[in-house]
Amino acid sequence: MYEKQILLIPGPTMIPPRVLRAMAAPSMGHRSEKFSQIIKEVSENLKKIFQTKNDVYILTSSGSGAMEASVVNFINPQDKVIVLVNGKFGDRYAKINERVGAEVIRLDFEPGVPADPEKVREILAQDTNKEIKAVFVQQNETSTGILNDIKAIKEAMGDHPALLIVDSISGMAVADFPVDEWGADVVVAGSQKAFMIPPGLAFITVSEKAWKVNEQCRSFNFYFDLRAAKKNLAKNTTPYTPATSLIIGLKESIDILLEEGLENIFRKQLKYKEMVREAVKAMGLELLVQDEKYASPAITAIKVPENIAWKDLNNLLVNEFNVMLAGGQDELKGKIFRIGHIGYVHEMDLVVAIAALEMALYKLGYPVELGTGVKACQEVILKYKEVN
Ligand SMILES: Cc1ncc(COP(=O)(O)O)c(C=O)c1O
Repeated sequence: MYEKQILLIPGPTMIPPRVLRAMAAPSMGHRSEKFSQIIKEVSENLKKIFQTKNDVYILTSSGSGAMEASVVNFINPQDKVIVLVNGKFGDRYAKINERVGAEVIRLDFEPGVPADPEKVREILAQDTNKEIKAVFVQQNETSTGILNDIKAIKEAMGDHPALLIVDSISGMAVADFPVDEWGADVVVAGSQKAFMIPPGLAFITVSEKAWKVNEQCRSFNFYFDLRAAKKNLAKNTTPYTPATSLIIGLKESIDILLEEGLENIFRKQLKYKEMVREAVKAMGLELLVQDEKYASPAITAIKVPENIAWKDLNNLLVNEFNVMLAGGQDELKGKIFRIGHIGYVHEMDLVVAIAALEMALYKLGYPVELGTGVKACQEVILKYKEVN
């Protein structure tokens, strides 16, 4: 009966009706003048979101396609790379690099702990022959709700020539990331997160320094060949048939983001993070990420309380209260659950989700006084309204 669901997973995120209406437009020729104009406008606007002067290429793929592109266009077999891993997606970067045949120096961090820039500094300092070609990291590690400090990681790299390659799939347009100012070389993002459109598009930007590295790259690529993307974007088109409806939706969603303004979005995301974290603490639940500074403004990971099964909690949330949250992934499956607060989320969606969480936990025998989490959320909302 309800077409509407409070969907608070870290993507696919909810879609604004304005974007849905735009995507319902009749098919358009992907080589037409009209569509080229759309590509031109969207690509220009993507630069504003990425805070870069370099081109941002639109790939028809999920985010992992852009991750793959960010490896196969720059890394050769036997190249040495550092991969910072604080969750499932860092692990994916390590796997893609291994598949290419790179020698991966993998730095693992405990779930809920940010990547330590000092470790990067130490390893690069020992690399006197400058053999390390790149440092890979997630800006926002979605599986654990960590926001890594990209600026500090770049600073720790000093004058080492390695590229800084960042997966910002769930970080872009959520937390500030001035790509050029912070000196990231390759940055990827994905459509189904803060861009508020369905899965199927990914975005990637490449610095001049990274293009020089690309000239020496021999790894196999075809569909994800960024030289083809560059050549075609110069003509306001794409090498292959793009997901036209998604790009039309993207044009609308970027308009929405730019109308709201990046600064306002970042502030809103901090409010959402605070609402959820305060509610969780008030309910006596435990957060996975202890250090506020590194807690993601996109998603909050919460430990599943003892004696409660995530499966039962999730069943109640979905079937009785129409709220969908996300479970844990890989070794965190059943141990944590996650509340996504990214994309087309209104503050009152979070109040509803916290109310649902309280009721579901209450029904499962968890000792929560109804209203405690909701009250904490309300207090944060009011605090921000006074500030503004
Ligand atoms: C940080 C991060 N990287 C990579 C991915 C993979 O993207 P996709 O599932 O769109 O391939 C995700 C998806 O959740 C993500 O959050």
